[in-house]
Amino acid sequence: MPVFVASAKAPVNIATLKYWGKRDTKLNLPTNSSISVTLSTDDLAAYTTATASPAYKDDSLVLNGIPEPIEQSARLSACLRELRALRAALEQADSSLPPLSSYHVHVFSKNNFPTAAGLASSAAGFAALVRAVANLFELPQSPEELSRIARQGSGSACRSLMGGFVGWEMGSKDDGSDSLAVQIAPKSHWPTIKAAILVISAQKKDISSTSGMQTTVKTSSLFQHRIQNVVPRRYEEMKNAILNHDFELFATLTMADSNQFHAVCLDSMPPIFYMNDASRQAIRAVEELNRAAGKTIAAYTFDAGPNCVIYYQQEDEQAVLGLLRTAVPDADKWTSTNASASLLHGYNTELLAGLDNAVTQVILTSIGDAPVSTEEHLDFPPVE
Ligand code: DP6
Repeated sequence: MPVFVASAKAPVNIATLKYWGKRDTKLNLPTNSSISVTLSTDDLAAYTTATASPAYKDDSLVLNGIPEPIEQSARLSACLRELRALRAALEQADSSLPPLSSYHVHVFSKNNFPTAAGLASSAAGFAALVRAVANLFELPQSPEELSRIARQGSGSACRSLMGGFVGWEMGSKDDGSDSLAVQIAPKSHWPTIKAAILVISAQKKDISSTSGMQTTVKTSSLFQHRIQNVVPRRYEEMKNAILNHDFELFATLTMADSNQFHAVCLDSMPPIFYMNDASRQAIRAVEELNRAAGKTIAAYTFDAGPNCVIYYQQEDEQAVLGLLRTAVPDADKWTSTNASASLLHGYNTELLAGLDNAVTQVILTSIGDAPVSTEEHLDFPPVE
């Protein structure tokens, strides 16, 4: 029996203007637009191989070697259903095409970073899945059009279909057709953007983003202020800061938005806590770095967990890594060691005590590109 195969590799993205809140939970339609930076797949990536065969009896998903119950995942089925519909349209227009839309699909996915690190892997995972199946079906759709499908897997996944700086425009239509990702600027626009990720050891995540944001939508009045008065303006300001290479403004808005997202979590009932003591210590350490530098050279941001992502520019790497090497001296915790580093004069190192214990890993990475097709397929069982 024939088997058709295609593979893709997709990036992680970390939001600088947070998506938090859905107006439609089935279609993952957000209550506000958001912005993120796509990170390099050299350091963090999801790899997916998708196969289709008339021999398959059902759809299946194997994540990091472990079979997942696909029939229970409405999100995954929604993505596959939409991709199949696009394929079916191609087959209808050209009867010489193999009828892949009628075959079941097997999906194999893995990350090049430890999932135990608690880093958001679902965005990269769904982006890789949509890209791989789109390649398998030879779909001509643009990244924007595919982002609409990935959004139904996980909201933030739509932003991982593109490289550089990416916006997710919330849209207003009930069917979600105008809620999709758009590239604000490619990596080449500002290639010197770097990111350091402090993986902070913590108890299991308090509450998943999906259910956390529902609690916020239902109970927080600060959230109403955020989506009505803050985000619409901040979206335009951040976009312009990116287009103008204005790092200080970009960084200030990024930190303000992370802080407001976590404030909105605290304002939910029952309150949601994603940051812990070490997260707050990382905030103080970055604030002190910017004070000692005399300008804003680094921006912290936190998603739905305690890990700290610090954005900075290549030109300030010495100062940023000087701080991080002083805070986390154990070289075994670092994913790379080649960069030179020195602590800024006048830095108050008392603020750093204890961070070393809390940080389990420091990952250095940079702004990255869109998902790509790869010829390196993950292992999949032979088809009889
Ligand atoms: C805090 O995209 O994981 O990382 O749509 O329910 O799958 P679902 O949620 P998800 O939420 C991400 C929330 C965030 C902010 C962001 O990435 O914009």
